Amino acid sequence: MLGMNISPATGKLGVLIPGMGAVTTTFIAGVEAVRRGAAEPIGSLTQMGTVRLGKRTDNRVPAIRDFVPLAGLDDLVFGGWDIYSDNCYEAAVHSGVLERPLLDSQKEFLSSIKPMPAVFDQDYVKRINGPNVKKYANKCVAAEMIGEDIRRFKADTGADRLVMIWIGSCEAFRTPSEVHSTLAKFEQGLKNNDPLIAPSMIYAYAALKQGISSINGSPNLSNDIPALQELARRNNVPIAGKDFKTGQTLVKTVIAPMLKSRLLGLSGWFSTNILGNRDGEVLDEPESFKTKEESKLSVLHEILQPSVYPQLYKDFHHQVRINYYPPRGDNKEGWDNIDIFGWLGYPMQLKINFLCRDSILAAPIVLDLVLFMDLAQRAGLGGIQEWLSFYFKSPITPEGLYPEHDLFIQLMKLKNTLRWMKGEELITHLGREYYD
Ligand SMILES: NC(=O)c1ccc[n+]([C@@H]2O[C@H](COP(=O)([O-])OP(=O)(O)OC[C@H]3O[C@@H](n4cnc5c(N)ncnc54)[C@H](O)[C@@H]3O)[C@@H](O)[C@H]2O)c1
Repeated sequence: MLGMNISPATGKLGVLIPGMGAVTTTFIAGVEAVRRGAAEPIGSLTQMGTVRLGKRTDNRVPAIRDFVPLAGLDDLVFGGWDIYSDNCYEAAVHSGVLERPLLDSQKEFLSSIKPMPAVFDQDYVKRINGPNVKKYANKCVAAEMIGEDIRRFKADTGADRLVMIWIGSCEAFRTPSEVHSTLAKFEQGLKNNDPLIAPSMIYAYAALKQGISSINGSPNLSNDIPALQELARRNNVPIAGKDFKTGQTLVKTVIAPMLKSRLLGLSGWFSTNILGNRDGEVLDEPESFKTKEESKLSVLHEILQPSVYPQLYKDFHHQVRINYYPPRGDNKEGWDNIDIFGWLGYPMQLKINFLCRDSILAAPIVLDLVLFMDLAQRAGLGGIQEWLSFYFKSPITPEGLYPEHDLFIQLMKLKNTLRWMKGEELITHLGREYYD
């Protein structure tokens, strides 16, 4: 097999981030800590993962970062926008995720990253309000202002390539509508100040217009609308999303395939969380929670396929709750109570209590996505990057195609995509060759 022509990762890679809160600052300070040799990049596939090549007996298992040409951590430069003017040091201290000695050891570096004024609309995020926002006549002008910020950032940092990743607050629930249906209608909507165009869409549009890839880490629509997918295809730019798969849904997409593999039935799945960070505060507001809930709820139906297995999965109850509980800060606690049934319908239960740290789980995902999206772009892959669905709760797919949620199928898809890029044989796990 012939590999793809991947241009080398020379020069700096600029990471542009709308939303510089807990996840963003944990990501940036984490990369800096790894660069200084003060910590390990635990949880990152690009930094610690391997990929098997050829037969199991071949003993070819290179590190992913040696196998495909990824940007190095030293080449990353960071910039972004926020409605608060706190620099990254102040925002990281406020978030309370990482300990002060680590933050203080890189105070100068973190303080030098200051958010640019944001495009913000309080209709989309009701619980917060900040002073660092742009003023503009209409949304078309807002997009141009973001475009100008991007050009300035590129010139100031000398970045060769750029990736944008939305890590802003979860916006209010909206369904794709007429103004999102084509690029022409979207661009007209920008000029008309259409209320259905969210800030996250304006950032994604400004990036894609300049040929910069766009990743969406939140459950709100952002780049997951036909208009922006059209723009991505037209400019041959990669897009990926949405909603980082970090805690409870990560567990769900491992347990649900296990139940389905063994044909164990499900009568109910109750998931609840307590969370005390700013994300928890935003999600305490019903419109933002609705966006998150939709993202979390879709997973089970799509994995369990009740229409294919009606005796096992028809009418199961699925409830998801997130309760804002400030004393826990970023340390989320999730409980899952899973009511299942086995042979002859006998009931059983599974209980899972995950005491996790939201931003600690999210930061390595941000790093991997940034590096893989840059790789995709250098390999000439435009449009939706389904191979990165491994990282998302609600992977974007084209209309009519259901997403693949099973974590291990997603991982296989990701690694096979890397093999395919490099012209290596794909691994089907058939395994006949060891016995013939
Ligand atoms: N941590 C996780 O495990 C996880 C998992 C999945 C998704 N997410 C999503 O990631 C996002 C960030 O989470 P977080 O914990 O860092 O939240 P956070 O509240 O600490 O940070 C979000 C930041 O976005 C800023 N913001 C809001 N609207 C903006 C706009 N229009 N332009 C620029 N900045 C804007 C806010 O001021 C805030 O500083 C949330 O949407 C969350 O739902 C997080």
